[in-house]
Amino acid sequence: MSCCFYFRYNFVFVDEKILSKLWKIATKKNFSSQLFLEVQWGQPLNLTKIFPDKETFFLELGSGWGEVAIQLAIQKPKTGFILLEKKPDRLKETFRKIQKRNLTNIRFLNANFNWFLEEFFEPNSFHEILLNFPDPWPKNKHHKHRTFNEEFPKKLFYLLKSGGLFYFASDHGGYARSVIRNLRRNSKFFEKISYSFQRENFPISHYEQKKLNEKKCIYYVEAQKSIL
Ligand SMILES: C[S@@+](CC[C@H](N)C(=O)[O-])C[C@H]1O[C@@H](n2cnc3c(N)ncnc32)[C@H](O)[C@@H]1O
Repeated sequence: MSCCFYFRYNFVFVDEKILSKLWKIATKKNFSSQLFLEVQWGQPLNLTKIFPDKETFFLELGSGWGEVAIQLAIQKPKTGFILLEKKPDRLKETFRKIQKRNLTNIRFLNANFNWFLEEFFEPNSFHEILLNFPDPWPKNKHHKHRTFNEEFPKKLFYLLKSGGLFYFASDHGGYARSVIRNLRRNSKFFEKISYSFQRENFPISHYEQKKLNEKKCIYYVEAQKSIL
């Protein structure tokens, strides 16, 4: 049966069976742990239920081996962290590190965020969202696979709270400049759009360290969701 869904901000006809298949693949559980979140179609996660004692909420997209979120979680015990990562081996390593440090303010979702993202959470959920060194897809014909595409600012706008912050980093100049251009095009929704070649007082990720060792120039972009 074919249904009309409000999918990715457009009304499109998607076969219900295909949508349900995509959802299953995107959210397929690859391993179990008490830190694992499960999300059902049509039942977005409510962060105040997940972290009843936390004051702010932070989302990391593509958390890799988890080193950034873990250091931030140690520094900010009153913040609840959600890590979204598709590779189970990286999540297993993150889980091992979290257990070693007895951290209680991190949960993760083993999911593909290019297929679904807004569907996982309630609107205006996060105070901060980090997209640190996403896969750059450098070839022109592969740009369509980039996470930060034309539609991405709408997803950020949906997920961030009013005044919430978005952080992006990449050593790929073309990708970073397209992110800045795209945010500026959306200046009605984002303000204080800035970039720098240094980022102070922020943990250094695995990939970032690799690029710093190669003496690569890194773009650090920041934007704030307009205060409504
Ligand atoms: C280049 S690595 C960067 C990892 C980490 N942020 C860092 O700075 O070291 C990109 C990460 O994003 C994850 N990733 C890429 N696309 C994803 C997607 N669509 N859904 C979930 N995770 C994704 C990859 O598995 C990988 O761990």
